[in-house]
Amino acid sequence: MLESFNVNPSDEYRECIEKYLTADLSFTSELMEGLAKTIFRSKKMMAYCLLHNSIDEAKGAARLRLMANRYADDELKQKMLRHYNDEMNHSKMFASLIPLTGYEAEVDNNGVEEELTKILDFDDDIKTFIFRVHSIEVRSWRLLLLHLKIIEESNKQYMKDMQPTIQNILEDEMRHVSYTAQYVSQWLHQDPYLSQSFINCITHTNRETWEDLSAMSNFMRDNVFQLMQEAEV
Ligand SMILES: [Fe+2]
Ligand SMILES: [Fe+2]
Repeated sequence: MLESFNVNPSDEYRECIEKYLTADLSFTSELMEGLAKTIFRSKKMMAYCLLHNSIDEAKGAARLRLMANRYADDELKQKMLRHYNDEMNHSKMFASLIPLTGYEAEVDNNGVEEELTKILDFDDDIKTFIFRVHSIEVRSWRLLLLHLKIIEESNKQYMKDMQPTIQNILEDEMRHVSYTAQYVSQWLHQDPYLSQSFINCITHTNRETWEDLSAMSNFMRDNVFQLMQEAEV
């Protein structure tokens, strides 16, 4: 994928990615695939996930803008601000899919505020930040590919209606993976000691993915009765 964006990854980058990024199996596991398939079968679950994605995109966007304005040099700043715009768009795009499930949701911005207070304590190092962003973008890209595969295999109309929007989001995510890969790859090549920090970021993201998996299961547990009723229809 990176080659198609003219990114030529350094050996240091390759090694970290190959050894660690998907090694914990969180987003490449059968569990993730099975859970995603289960979620997509239920409109209520689907609405929950779309809302969750919409909020996460807005939070990610807020972090990007803050870090871009504070710590990035001009070239990186331009790229990060474009990235910020894309993520804000994604937030709206995910929210716009919710009515297809027959549910409605109000997206409130409280979470974003909370996220911005958190970032004040966040490591203010731009390299560490881009390491984190890169690992998250790779996960988004891989998950969207999985979601598109499930949609393709499904004969449900509401899923088919979501396809074009998800495809558009995927294309942006691939761009995000590529430009961040270029920076990560170059920084690791210049200073191989940074690998440890990149691995820490990957570990953090993978741990969060497991938390997301548990949150989705808990949502199903908490809504088991409605999910059963929905299944009967
Ligand atoms: Fe996004
Ligand atoms: Fe992204």
